[in-house]
Amino acid sequence: MVSAQDIILPVPHKSGGKPLMDALNERQSVRTFTGDNLSVQQLSDLLWAAWGINREPAGNRTAPSSHNRQEMDVYVTLKSGLYLYDARANILKQIHDRDIRALTGTQDFPATAPVNLVYVSDMTKRGKKEGDTITDTDLLSSWANTGFMAQNVYLYCASEGLGCVIRAMVPRDKLAPEMELKPHQAIILAQTVGFTPEK
Ligand SMILES: Cc1cc2nc3c(=O)[nH]c(=O)nc-3n(C[C@H](O)[C@H](O)[C@H](O)COP(=O)(O)O)c2cc1C
Repeated sequence: MVSAQDIILPVPHKSGGKPLMDALNERQSVRTFTGDNLSVQQLSDLLWAAWGINREPAGNRTAPSSHNRQEMDVYVTLKSGLYLYDARANILKQIHDRDIRALTGTQDFPATAPVNLVYVSDMTKRGKKEGDTITDTDLLSSWANTGFMAQNVYLYCASEGLGCVIRAMVPRDKLAPEMELKPHQAIILAQTVGFTPEK
């Protein structure tokens, strides 16, 4: 059910952008951002690139996942709060309205960059039950899956003239409770996205 606090995303642009080889040539990590917000169209396109559905009716995604278990969730931290990307409904479901961008990293720029994605693995989608212990080995596929999603975001950003950086320096123990995650949900990586200052 959609609530008033959710962000209804416009239909993502599934064509256009820079040619792939140009985007690869311009892919880079950026750590300096202006505070400007992405448009909702850019948010929609970014999230579709990361983890959108590109094949119906099966619901396959723009990024692969081991055994197509699709255990990954993309959370989005904005100034206006924490959201969960629902690719099928194409909405950002608000979890809460607190600004927790600073908690997504141990560096300074996540606090002020407009968007920080947090890639979370839901291990109940890989056969674990709530309360089961999750080991590092259990999460190997989720780390690999996240790499593909993050590269999609890098390429989208290169195509769109945005900056981004994938980040492992995430204070997971502090962040997980602020995201209201359950023990079977593991934070894998975060990725900051925003506009870069004019050179
Ligand atoms: C798994 C992984 C974790 C990373 N963690 C961080 C991080 O926490 N903070 C950061 O600023 N950059 C992080 N990076 C970005 C790398 O520093 C960056 O990719 C590298 O310096 C090469 O630069 P390039 O991406 O511009 O080619 C990470 C990259 C990877 C692949």
